[in-house]
Amino acid sequence: MTTHTECQDSGDAAASESTAEPTATPLQPARRRFLQSAAAAATIGAVPHLHAQTQPQTPASPPPQSNPVVPPRPVTLTVNGRAYTLQLEPRVTLLDALREYAGLMGTKKGCDRGQCGACTVLVDGRRINSCLTLAVMHEGETITTVEGLASNGALSPLQSAFIEHDAFQCGYCTPGQLCSATALLNEFRNGAASTVTADVRARPAALTDDEIRERMSGNICRCGAYANIVAAVRAAHDNA
Ligand code: FES
Ligand code: FES
Repeated sequence: MTTHTECQDSGDAAASESTAEPTATPLQPARRRFLQSAAAAATIGAVPHLHAQTQPQTPASPPPQSNPVVPPRPVTLTVNGRAYTLQLEPRVTLLDALREYAGLMGTKKGCDRGQCGACTVLVDGRRINSCLTLAVMHEGETITTVEGLASNGALSPLQSAFIEHDAFQCGYCTPGQLCSATALLNEFRNGAASTVTADVRARPAALTDDEIRERMSGNICRCGAYANIVAAVRAAHDNA
């Protein structure tokens, strides 16, 4: 319809142009109507958008109910031979329980997602990433942190080897490296194979550098002290 009207207008204008004085003035109303039509079309095209913008928003559905907060309860952890009874929510990780509740700051938080090994502690002799486990799961178990590796004020042979071989720079990864290497030495003595052991059905013959690197691969050192860490672990093994 708009097009037809425009044609009529154009025809009128053309007729008018042929009979009237040859000036530009008669075309102006037609051009104005054309521009008005174009503007109207553009407006019509934009209407759904405007409509969407101006319509009152449908009330959002209520957010899903989050899990109700479970209040803290007493949790007793045995760490380095001492019992700590802590008021913990079930969601508290072992790492946070050690650092923030028990005040044992030796265990470090690097990534908090199981990638760096800085939080490694021993639970019943096994090394675990304490950031990946909940404290409430470890009641009744024996937890050892870096603070518990020395005995009666004397460093463990592995700790001494780390100092002797200069196996750290900033030291942030060192508590995790020490706990991990402590477990590594015990695992090797107990005949546990690794993925680089030639025959996994037999006891690994020697704690080679490749064996140490593989078995320590879960502990990242951003300072790159790996060569000295391997040397320290081998020395602690050889001198045992
Ligand atoms: S802090 Fe636990 S693995 Fe990095
Ligand atoms: S000594 Fe700095 S991260 Fe290992």
